Amino acid sequence: MKKLFENKVAVVTGAGGTLCSEIAVRLAEEGAKVVLVGRTAEKLQKVADKIVANGDTCLVYPCDVTDKEAVDALAAKVEETFGPCDFLINGAGGNNIKAMPTITKFDERELTGELPEGERGLYNIDLDAFHGVLDLNTMGTVLPTLAFARQMAKNGGGNVINFASMNTYCPLTRCFAYAMSKAAVSNLTQSFAAYFAPAKIRINAIAPGFMVNERSKNYLGTVEEGLTKRGEQVIGHTPMGRFGEASDLIGCVKWLLNNDAAGFVTGITVPVDGGFLTLGGV
Ligand SMILES: NC(=O)c1ccc[n+]([C@@H]2O[C@H](COP(=O)([O-])OP(=O)(O)OC[C@H]3O[C@@H](n4cnc5c(N)ncnc54)[C@H](OP(=O)(O)O)[C@@H]3O)[C@@H](O)[C@H]2O)c1
Repeated sequence: MKKLFENKVAVVTGAGGTLCSEIAVRLAEEGAKVVLVGRTAEKLQKVADKIVANGDTCLVYPCDVTDKEAVDALAAKVEETFGPCDFLINGAGGNNIKAMPTITKFDERELTGELPEGERGLYNIDLDAFHGVLDLNTMGTVLPTLAFARQMAKNGGGNVINFASMNTYCPLTRCFAYAMSKAAVSNLTQSFAAYFAPAKIRINAIAPGFMVNERSKNYLGTVEEGLTKRGEQVIGHTPMGRFGEASDLIGCVKWLLNNDAAGFVTGITVPVDGGFLTLGGV
């Protein structure tokens, strides 16, 4: 039986991470030739081992998505190895704790250096780290999109999926750089979708809710073994009463990439959030 994405070329950035490792494996299962991109070769290799063990096809390519030269070299390698890219999943993204204050509201002691040991206000954060978060989530989406849309345009079309967040809609406390950059991801999804529509390139985004990963277990806890205060707030706001799993995103990914199912859909951001956005918090 023909698979859904037989012989499509899918580039997945952030493919060593929690969400996009699963997406990469599942696209490969559907017959796509998958290019695994991230900075750490070992993380990518673990995902590649799984794909190869399933009898599917992939290429590991370590690359920093904020480095234009490296991204252009990646695009050339993909075209040479598998042919032009059909699908780009811009999954590389994230936050940096050094870009976040530890306190949720202004405290005048942050101006005088008198905050208690270990506490950090907005005036005490590392601005280079702040800039790095903006760069990763915005230019780390823009640069691969430009590099691969060139191939898609020449090849008669393609599909891009970006990664937004619940912060796209309303910022969480302390997440300044992450929140503003994820709002930008939704915005650039719209403007790039409009620009590339004549080239038959559809560009959409997924906004995952609160998904389980190793980091989230530390700062949110788990429903089964106990939640932190922040975890209780999240679950209290999530009508479905649980955190999401990477597998919860797969249906949405397949729908957006499938021209038969979503051929008239472009420029949208789809929340996959257990209903988090349905509640105002009261
Ligand atoms: N998990 C959630 O709850 C959640 C919720 C909403 C949105 N999201 C978004 O969904 C996407 C995937 O999240 P995730 O939970 O799977 O994150 P993750 O586990 O931290 O994976 C992100 C991956 O991105 C790679 N990466 C980071 N900087 C990079 C760079 N400059 N160049 C290339 N690769 C880079 C990292 O690998 P290296 O360090 O090896 O490069 C990492 O494997 C992210 O955009 C995230 O912001 C996640």
